Amino acid sequence: MTTLLIRNIRLLVQTEKHPRRVVRGADMRHLPTIPNAFVLIEADRIAAFGPMEQCPQRADVVLDASGRLVLPSWCDSHTHLVFPAARDEEFVDRICGLSYEEIARRGGGILNSARRLRQMSEDALFESAWQRLCEVIAQGTGAIEIKSGYGLTTESELKILRVIRRLKAVSPIPIRATFLGAHAIPEEYRHRRNEYVDLIIHQMLPRVAEEDLADYCDVFCDRGFFTPQETERILQAAWKFGLKPKIHANELANSGGVQVGVANGAISVDHLECIGHQEIELLRNSLTLPTLLPACAFFLGIPYAPARQMLDAGLPLVLASDYNPGSAPSGRMAFVVALACIQMKMLPEEAINAATLNGACAMELENEYGSIAVGKKANLFITRPMTSVAQVPYFFGTDPVETVIVNGRIWKQP
Ligand code: NIG
Ligand code: FE
Repeated sequence: MTTLLIRNIRLLVQTEKHPRRVVRGADMRHLPTIPNAFVLIEADRIAAFGPMEQCPQRADVVLDASGRLVLPSWCDSHTHLVFPAARDEEFVDRICGLSYEEIARRGGGILNSARRLRQMSEDALFESAWQRLCEVIAQGTGAIEIKSGYGLTTESELKILRVIRRLKAVSPIPIRATFLGAHAIPEEYRHRRNEYVDLIIHQMLPRVAEEDLADYCDVFCDRGFFTPQETERILQAAWKFGLKPKIHANELANSGGVQVGVANGAISVDHLECIGHQEIELLRNSLTLPTLLPACAFFLGIPYAPARQMLDAGLPLVLASDYNPGSAPSGRMAFVVALACIQMKMLPEEAINAATLNGACAMELENEYGSIAVGKKANLFITRPMTSVAQVPYFFGTDPVETVIVNGRIWKQP
């Protein structure tokens, strides 16, 4: 069994002696760390960690992390990583004054991506997604969720989900797949939206389940997209096929997404830029995880989710990238953490908890990922030289990630 030892770590971050499922509210301020530490990895798992006085003498591979931090890899629980092409023309349209919703109403946005995806081969789609996956792994992501939703026909949704399945087969990091047939109403169904919902329920979901292509079911429940009633119909059908809900809610308006998500046992409700006291109370009394996507608010220039209010109410916040071509063309989790601190006033400790352990929990992977704990998978990274946890978001323009370890092996080295 190959052993890898990381020694002289200035600060070993997010250590756990007694693994937790999730961290919430005031506890999110606590990010357990060990100064002057080591981590020992055997094969693909963490075998031991602690202060340098207890450091083993030898290992097959030894890395010196002097002056550096070690963190568990980011757990990015919300992405749309498989997409056909960039949408930089719409980016320029928005600079010139159009809003995201106006672009969508004109048949751009998600429908634009769906048109392009239909013309693209599965192989080409896979190649471009594989590049993006490698890019985010090099940026420290060690577990990820990927959604469909740029197909919007049965065949195209199956195509994008098969691409995700191919990624799963070759990816060194775990991938959770989410079926998002209800991402937008296709043009041809604009005046008969019920028929599209029927198509999702009676044709897409059974095929997705039959081929075992997804772990979760998502709906873009928001103004101009799917109503809470439509969302509920889809989520209830999805449950029958064993797909748990994980939905887009309250990005563009306070339109009932949180309510329908909680009522239908969603693992998470994501976005939440438009949320009030009532929704926060509802989340407090549920098992549904609130996931914030500040890179989307940043890129679209919309208000940020009220993270402080949610933390003060005791909620367990999750942070994810939302990597997609329309509202967040970046999967760089370190930047998401920086935005959470700079724009949403989350403490660095809170943001790192949200982007590691809580992110893992939002993918039901918390037993294996999200912290430095004995027996967990050895997905972690060594930062470039820095002196505190706060420097991770403070130097927002520089990637903190220097060396990446995936499954106990060096994936990227400076
Ligand atoms: O999370 N809100 C819905 N879906 C994505 C945007 C998708 C797109 O514009 O391509 C999001 O922001
Ligand atoms: Fe999204």
